[in-house]
Amino acid sequence: KLPEPFTVPLPVPPVRRPVRTANGVDYHEITQRAADVEILPGLRTRVWGYDGIFPGPTIESRRGRTTVVRHHNALDVPVVVHLHGGRTPPEHDGYPTDTIAPGAVRDYEYPLDQRAATLWYHDHRMDFTGPQVYKGLAGLHLVRDDEEDALPLPRAEREVPLVLTDRAFAEDGSFVYPSVDPSLRGHPGVTADYMSGVLGDCVLVNGAPWPVLEVGAVRYRFRILNASNARRYRLALDPPPPEGPAFVQIGSDQGLLAAPVEHERVPIAQAERFDVLVDFSRYTMGQRVTLVNQLGEDGTANVMRFVVARRASEDSAVPARLSDIRPLSTSDAVATREFVFRRGGAEQHGRTLWTVNGEPCSPDTISATPALGTVELWKLRAQNVAHPIHIHLGRFQVREPSRYAGGWKDTVDLDSGDQAEVLVQFDGYRGKYVLHCHNLEHEDMMMMANFQVT
Ligand code: C2O
Ligand code: CU
Repeated sequence: KLPEPFTVPLPVPPVRRPVRTANGVDYHEITQRAADVEILPGLRTRVWGYDGIFPGPTIESRRGRTTVVRHHNALDVPVVVHLHGGRTPPEHDGYPTDTIAPGAVRDYEYPLDQRAATLWYHDHRMDFTGPQVYKGLAGLHLVRDDEEDALPLPRAEREVPLVLTDRAFAEDGSFVYPSVDPSLRGHPGVTADYMSGVLGDCVLVNGAPWPVLEVGAVRYRFRILNASNARRYRLALDPPPPEGPAFVQIGSDQGLLAAPVEHERVPIAQAERFDVLVDFSRYTMGQRVTLVNQLGEDGTANVMRFVVARRASEDSAVPARLSDIRPLSTSDAVATREFVFRRGGAEQHGRTLWTVNGEPCSPDTISATPALGTVELWKLRAQNVAHPIHIHLGRFQVREPSRYAGGWKDTVDLDSGDQAEVLVQFDGYRGKYVLHCHNLEHEDMMMMANFQVT
């Protein structure tokens, strides 16, 4: 029932125009609804999609222009929308219990007073984020600005988003997600075998299984998002180019790096974004270049394929300098805090849950109170298994591990036993926000904590 790899053309999610624009504000409307879509050729898959598609429509905003997105909930469960990476007031940040009831409507207001970046929006309902995102509630939200527009980067059809997810399918084409209560109305959680996270055996890019993209023999820009629940990837090109790097990274979660960084492999954990350039002029005409996942096996070792199908004239360049980023140092930090992500410290229905500092998530417990306008040093430690940690509102620079290229991040991946030291800048708004593991099953099983910006 799964297709031959590299036979389905790569789709690109449609860019949504505002329904209206007034006084410098762009208004969008999205209906969250169930729909039957063709993911596997010849079969129908029931998804829950933003406007009934998976991934959802891409929203594009200009830096500093407020974007209002009106969400209609036409599903039969509560939903919550979070703009991942947005510097957003707390009442619009999608706090996990701040739900839109079935049948209800809500306006989310995003000032987007922040650098150009590849942001994404997804469901964030308390205890049910994993299944609701798996069913399809995720989409891209790109922020553009003059600084980035002034660079000679590949544009238009040479600027391609790649949203990676893995899914498992039943014989009839439906998604398989091991919820204890498949209606998602009662008891949360997954069946016991999936405590570590839900993995699929089929890799989808922009919602298509192992797709293929015909490219010109020129440079392309790929904005790669790992929107998978529990899978990490280490991306490489097979074959690698005969000369030069496979990937030139220009951006990270929170926008452009200071200068490009060359990579042969790109490790990408859940919710991370890598903005990379690939130069297909290094390959011969007609050559097939496979984007592989070195951490996968069988079907999950393949991601998608590029076929160098035509000559084209190059109109882009790799600038030596991309952006000004002031490196933070520990002397900028006014406080140091530690967060340990591990299994243990709380139980539910006889199961040991995932916790932060040994505490299960509760809306009433505030674990940190950073002051608005300050920088803090947060030491994030992972135990038992790997955990990708995401902090809402506060963008950060990673001191250690040093594999990160020095840009602004909002998610950092930690191997079991690793510690990350991150310098977090609390700018924008006072209020209550969360930090959590972005393995969505860990998140649903309590690996989330609150901080209050004061
Ligand atoms: Cu992408 Cu709190 O999430
Ligand atoms: Cu985790």
